[in-house]
Amino acid sequence: MMTTRIIGTGSALPANIVTNDDLAKIMDTSDEWISSRTGIRERHLADDSETAAVLAAEAGRKAMENAGVSAEEIQMVLVATSSAENYFPSVGCQVHKMLGLHQAAAMDLSAACSGFLFVLNTAHAYIKSGLYERILVIGVDTLSRTIDWTDRSTCVLFGDGAGACVVQKDEEGIIGMSQHSDGSQSGVLTSFAPTQKTPLSEAMPGSPLYMEGQAVFKFAVKTVPDCISRLLEKEEMTADQVKYFVLHQANSRIIQSVAKRLKVSADKFPMNLDRCGNTSAASIPLLLDEMNRSGKLEKGDVLMLSGFGAGLTWGATLLRW
Ligand code: ACO
Repeated sequence: MMTTRIIGTGSALPANIVTNDDLAKIMDTSDEWISSRTGIRERHLADDSETAAVLAAEAGRKAMENAGVSAEEIQMVLVATSSAENYFPSVGCQVHKMLGLHQAAAMDLSAACSGFLFVLNTAHAYIKSGLYERILVIGVDTLSRTIDWTDRSTCVLFGDGAGACVVQKDEEGIIGMSQHSDGSQSGVLTSFAPTQKTPLSEAMPGSPLYMEGQAVFKFAVKTVPDCISRLLEKEEMTADQVKYFVLHQANSRIIQSVAKRLKVSADKFPMNLDRCGNTSAASIPLLLDEMNRSGKLEKGDVLMLSGFGAGLTWGATLLRW
């Protein structure tokens, strides 16, 4: 039966690295607090030239090189982001221009930290339907621009970056997927854009990223293992058959708790959040690219990708590499 396979990966990180000690110089925090509560030691922060589109295009170009596909062969670009600098053109259309993807349709999708899974699953649906055979999927966020840098409980968590995969119709690849949303809990994690005064309404100031950390923590440690277990059950597979669980990189304590609830060794949960922080929609493809390029992945390995984020949104994708 035809499905969707990841045939190449790429990623891009801003040049500037900001350590916990650097943050401790500008706010009341410490490396000890941040690393013991989250596992994060440093993050990359974008400068003015490193827009979401620039990072997305670099990750996309590397993924296409890794897959050995040319610009003409890409039929669609799907970008997950919730921090693009402009409302339109979409980041997808900017990547379209930067990479010369003349044959491709392009669009963005917003599902916060679950965004990459949502675009991967959307690409899979397009490929399964027969509409497209080869799609570039990208997760990118520059949340550092949306954060309140005086709120130490959120600003220390996030980093910027982009990750990308080329996916293509194949006999093996995605085994199963699931994606979910619960809008009734939208208030625990929000970011509002400012609005202009119009003839009928007053201008509204924007508000930076706001998060009820403990509520998100509790949601993640219950919902992610439930979602993974249900998908395994649906596909009649067990956690033993999964080589790696590639989870959204928000907090090492969340990842350890998920491993414990699934009764799976924490060694099966690779992490790069110590070096990247929470890069939102970029975190899963960034980690996948690292694993791919370091030779950790072999053809046929079973991977479980799973993420959660604002919305609230969450999901999982079970695939054979
Ligand atoms: N440095 C030092 N102290 C701090 C800092 C900091 N950076 N931040 C908070 N504190 C203090 C608080 O003021 C509080 O002090 P108090 O006890 O005197 O009041 C104390 O540390 C404990 O604060 P808590 O908020 O209770 O700390 P907690 O252990 O819950 O950890 C954290 C906070 C790390 C945010 C945790 O709740 C968490 O990781 N939550 C999940 C976040 C997450 O995964 N978000 C993903 C969102 S993805 C997306 O879609 C954008």
